[in-house]
Amino acid sequence: MAGTQHAQWSSRWAFIMAAVGSAVGLGNIWKFPYEAGEGGGGAFVILYLIFVFVIGAPCLIAELSLGRRGQKSPVNTMKSIATEEGKSTMWGLLGWSGIIGAFIIISFYSLVGGWVLAYIVKAAMGFGGFDAAQSTETFLNFIADPVQPIIAHFIFMAITVSIVARGVQGGLEKAVTVLMPALFAILVMLMIYSGITGDFAAAIDFLFRPNFHALTGDKILNALGLSFFSLSLAMGSIMTYGSYLPKDVNIPRSAITIAGADSAVALMAGLAIFPIVFAYGLNPGGGGGLVFMTLPIAFGQMPMGGVIGPLFFALLAVAAVTSSISLLEPGVSYIEERTGWSRKKVTAIIGFSAFLLGTLSSFGQPGNLLGDLQFFGSMTIMDVKDYLTNNIIMPLGAMFMMIFVGWFVSRKAMMEELAIEDKSFRVWYFLVRFICPVAIFAVFANIIYDTIIQPMLG
Ligand code: PHE
Repeated sequence: MAGTQHAQWSSRWAFIMAAVGSAVGLGNIWKFPYEAGEGGGGAFVILYLIFVFVIGAPCLIAELSLGRRGQKSPVNTMKSIATEEGKSTMWGLLGWSGIIGAFIIISFYSLVGGWVLAYIVKAAMGFGGFDAAQSTETFLNFIADPVQPIIAHFIFMAITVSIVARGVQGGLEKAVTVLMPALFAILVMLMIYSGITGDFAAAIDFLFRPNFHALTGDKILNALGLSFFSLSLAMGSIMTYGSYLPKDVNIPRSAITIAGADSAVALMAGLAIFPIVFAYGLNPGGGGGLVFMTLPIAFGQMPMGGVIGPLFFALLAVAAVTSSISLLEPGVSYIEERTGWSRKKVTAIIGFSAFLLGTLSSFGQPGNLLGDLQFFGSMTIMDVKDYLTNNIIMPLGAMFMMIFVGWFVSRKAMMEELAIEDKSFRVWYFLVRFICPVAIFAVFANIIYDTIIQPMLG
């Protein structure tokens, strides 16, 4: 057993940066814009924001509190809190679902992280005068290549592994405290640039004008899943980070900062990307290549694009790495605890396995080796992993976690962890016990009705 003392963040600021680093990543800059595009814009965006603050933030508080109380890896944290409360250790399964979910996510997350790395190089070579057709072709050719994306995916995973192997305070803290603010600054710049040169009015209209008829049951589930994904919830990441949290850090206040920063970055990414989408007649619902097809046009045309382009992708890569380390951490902390093997060895094994699983997502891209393989109609291998984690494991995991915290853990224990005034506590407790589980259940019930019951009734 690893009987060594459990690690801790060196300060509240370091923790906030690490948690923001986990939350802010490809979910905000790659996923949010294209899912908002596929979801028809306005109504999806508004719903996403409601989910982030009404459901996601209370879950974030709950998950951090569990982590800090349990002081172990997700599986053992769940087990030990359940035992402390005199409840079944079966709750440990919730830790497992997180670890497995995180493993599946990192397998494709690292691939997309690799795309970002490759785009640093492409941007440095210049997107000179790119139009929509050229940037689309460049991206599609790249993901159809059997070798290049795999090399990039390997490099991305190797970077993640090397940081996680060093432990929390080593590489992680230092990287996030400087680079996250830099990413923020460059996003503001991009937003201003594309606002001036692109079709800003159309972007605002698209992103904020609610068109509720576009919101079908599966889009609502997408918005819910995305809100969990972008806050890093229910995968054990936040629970593990919570376990490194000193007792004197105020969890609710931190959670609001994290949720605020997270949604701000998503909106900024939307405002940087959609003016270009509309100015160049790209398809907002065009899927996972959106960022890679739009921004090169801007970089190709703006003054200094040859410098700003690579810088942007480099910072995006950093944001992605600070998230991927939090995806690797839960599994590593559990196996380390369980086997007593060295952290280096555990990290390398899990990282390499996830890399292998991730190669399938690359080969399954259109035009690649397994590009013709399609599941459930038109889903690629990556789509299947994405759907399984975002739309099933995450919301269900979050629902059970809220049921656990709201109904199985004593009120007193949670009051101790939160340490907030009575009125705020009551609001949070009400959300956790009733609103969150019921809302998540309703989103599922709705989609089950839409896809299974209604067709049966004809
Ligand atoms: N929140 C991260 C992002 O938006 C992804 C992530 C999901 C990280 C789940 C950890 C756990 O990119």
